[in-house]
Amino acid sequence: MRNAVSLIALALAVSVTGCAATPPSAVRVHQAPVSAVSPSSSIVTEAGRAHPAAWPHAASPAAMSDAATEAFVTELMSRMTLEEKVGQTIQADIASITPEDLLTYPLGSILAGGNSSPGGDERASARKWVELAQAFRAAAARRAGAKIPLIYGIDAVHGHNNIVGATIFPHNSGLGAMRDPDVIRRIGEATALEVAVTGADWTFGPTLAVPQDDRWGRAYEGYAENPEVARSYAGPMTLGLQGELSADHPLASGHIAGSAKHFLADGGTTGGKDQGDFAGTERELIDVHLSGYPQAIDAGVLSIMASFSSWNGVKHSGNETILTDVLRGPLGFDGFVVSDWNAHGQLPGCSNESCALAFNAGIDMFMAPDSWKPLYENTLAQARSGEIPMARLDEAVRRILRVKVKTGLFQDARPVEGRLEELGSPAHRALAREAVRKSLVLLKNEGVLPIRSNARVLVAGTAADDIGQASGGWTLTWQGTGNSNADFPNGQSIWSGVEEAVRAGGGAATLSADGAYSQKPDVAIVVFGETPYAEFQGDVDTLDFLPSEPLETLRRLKAAGIPTVSVFLSGRPMWTNPEINASDAFVAAWLPGTEGGGVADVLIGDAAGKARHDFHGKLSFSWPRDARGEPLNVGQPGYDPQFAYGYGLSYARPGRVGTLSEESGVQGATGSIDRYFVDGRFVSPWGLALRDAGGERRLGMETSGASPRGGVAARPADGSTQESARSLIFAAGGGDALVSGGAVDLTRQSNGEMAISFRYRVDAAPQGPVRLTLGAGSVDVTRLLTARPVGEWATLKVRLSCLADHGADIAAVDQPWGLRTDAPFAVTVETIRLTPNEGDAVCPTGE
Ligand code: BGC
Ligand code: BGC
Repeated sequence: MRNAVSLIALALAVSVTGCAATPPSAVRVHQAPVSAVSPSSSIVTEAGRAHPAAWPHAASPAAMSDAATEAFVTELMSRMTLEEKVGQTIQADIASITPEDLLTYPLGSILAGGNSSPGGDERASARKWVELAQAFRAAAARRAGAKIPLIYGIDAVHGHNNIVGATIFPHNSGLGAMRDPDVIRRIGEATALEVAVTGADWTFGPTLAVPQDDRWGRAYEGYAENPEVARSYAGPMTLGLQGELSADHPLASGHIAGSAKHFLADGGTTGGKDQGDFAGTERELIDVHLSGYPQAIDAGVLSIMASFSSWNGVKHSGNETILTDVLRGPLGFDGFVVSDWNAHGQLPGCSNESCALAFNAGIDMFMAPDSWKPLYENTLAQARSGEIPMARLDEAVRRILRVKVKTGLFQDARPVEGRLEELGSPAHRALAREAVRKSLVLLKNEGVLPIRSNARVLVAGTAADDIGQASGGWTLTWQGTGNSNADFPNGQSIWSGVEEAVRAGGGAATLSADGAYSQKPDVAIVVFGETPYAEFQGDVDTLDFLPSEPLETLRRLKAAGIPTVSVFLSGRPMWTNPEINASDAFVAAWLPGTEGGGVADVLIGDAAGKARHDFHGKLSFSWPRDARGEPLNVGQPGYDPQFAYGYGLSYARPGRVGTLSEESGVQGATGSIDRYFVDGRFVSPWGLALRDAGGERRLGMETSGASPRGGVAARPADGSTQESARSLIFAAGGGDALVSGGAVDLTRQSNGEMAISFRYRVDAAPQGPVRLTLGAGSVDVTRLLTARPVGEWATLKVRLSCLADHGADIAAVDQPWGLRTDAPFAVTVETIRLTPNEGDAVCPTGE
């Protein structure tokens, strides 16, 4: 009944807008929030139902839906066919659509996803990006019928991070430490300009997540664990990106549309699981996770992205009480809602290719990267059949067109497009460097900082001269992996910044990744931390910082009487007490991006040892006392961090830290004894090692690499989900690809008839015998592998007891899985783990 009544109200509201003279206030759609989900098809349970009366109020500025805009949209819509209307609601990814497709399919939007680029080249020139935008726009303009421009979106989430040469700003976790809304606004402006010069119209940011569990691989995309920071940043970032909305005028040149994401509570999922569930009350949803959305809406944010995640089991992309009743009710949002990457396909009864439910719940535009064609056809059929009510379709189209008008797409003037000198311009780089300086948090300083600029400085650690590592995920590639300094022609590594400052001050700096030196330095700076990751691949089980080399380097230097300074790069706080104890000073530098010089600005003083810039950053994420990784957030009962939210020393306010406990709180060989490679990552403590006659190379968090002589190489590949698999390529001579790193007793598992199991796809048939290994044990699997057609997935399960019979010491397993061959062979594997033998495990006996 409620729905029927509100549908009529909507129809009235929509028809009222037909009158061009209507004053802006009369056309505010949020005065008649409506969802078109029928009670029988709603997926909303009692626990996942939002009650609008409990929510605070906000409102898109009246200038978003001024009379002229609404009249223009009304007139345009009166000329649009049903096909054109449906087309507006669908967004395709540039990797899966060509400009020519737009002549057949009247789509309204394209995006460039994290791994999508002109011609599939992640390192394409900025010029190519401009040409890509122009080609799609030209095709859209050639379409018959109503002339409606595309809106083209991209993830510019720490600068225009998909483009070689762009300024890469610190990720949000670092920006949160600045507590400086003015810098945020200027970063928004700089980012918008860099995006606009390459021809894109819209960024999928700001991220307003309030990460509660730092094990989440997207924690770094949030500003802080406490919503106060996002509340103070959301408005300035929106204004920086978009400028002020003004009635009758589109965004000023050099500005782009923003998208606050991911609505709602993406940072609240249990265990920090990506795309997981927030199990909490409506009160917590409002008090914590509503975050800065009201401020973004008040500032005029033109779109909002719905979250993949769910609340008490109900996926947000299908929750009409959140997307419509609340967002269009008290929150007063007049822009459009875009869904996340095929998120609609995760709803009950839906697939990537069809989902009226999401649309009726309040998704105005489907992000349908590769599924757009069938989704378009199915959505069209649903609009024809009435499964999607016409009023609901019209409402969504109106919101999208309104945003296109405000973004200036109908003018298509683009005065800044092609001004590629703005990418990585001196002004933007100076701003990024300021942000780096201000985001550094000094956790410890026992007298060693600032460093005199005429000192002899040793710079150690593999991260010191690695701009890719300093930039993290969402940098040129989706996961941020595979970048080298050559990919950042305008950037500066941390090492290079230190070298420059010390050289200018009359000192001498040397770079030595492993910390070896010939002449004893006055001080050593060791730069180390997490290697790049993004969505789900960065989810971890504990906050233990595992690599041991940095600690060994620090201890060695300290033992030689050299004062040590750690610069720790990470997306999140991690348990680093042993490293802190081995350091005289410890700086949390987050993921600073391309302007590594900002680190030296604060660490290196003048020749007299006087600071040139003081520390300014305050923790916006609590630093843990142990490695377990349980949620640790300011204000929670029993809150007892190592360094509290808001902590940060400076030269003006020094403090002593003393010796910290080195009890990590996690059991010996941490992590898993039965899961080795799951969801595209190795489960701690396991990793991939590649061995050949030249020795062994352990890949750690790296997803690609090769054995010392190139006998075997690995790289990420798509399996049952994106990048969930590894391709293993054996060359002539070959070698071993091994899961290694732990030491476990699998006697019980072997007695219990467990099997080692993995999915695989032969990519190139073996040219010689292949053995499956477990430690010293092995069996010949050549026949099994050659029996499968090339290119087809299959699962192989081999009984542990079988491997024990063939030489494996099942009580002390340090390599639970491996493949060995000395001839060419290519195979892609995923999901390597122990599973119960359900009568399907074998004991291969070879030829
Ligand atoms: C992410 C979004 C992103 C989108 C487009 C999704 O997988 O969750 O944050 O904006 O992809 O790249
Ligand atoms: C895209 C990302 C997206 C992700 C989701 C990637 O290929 O580039 O933008 O977030 O897929 O699976």
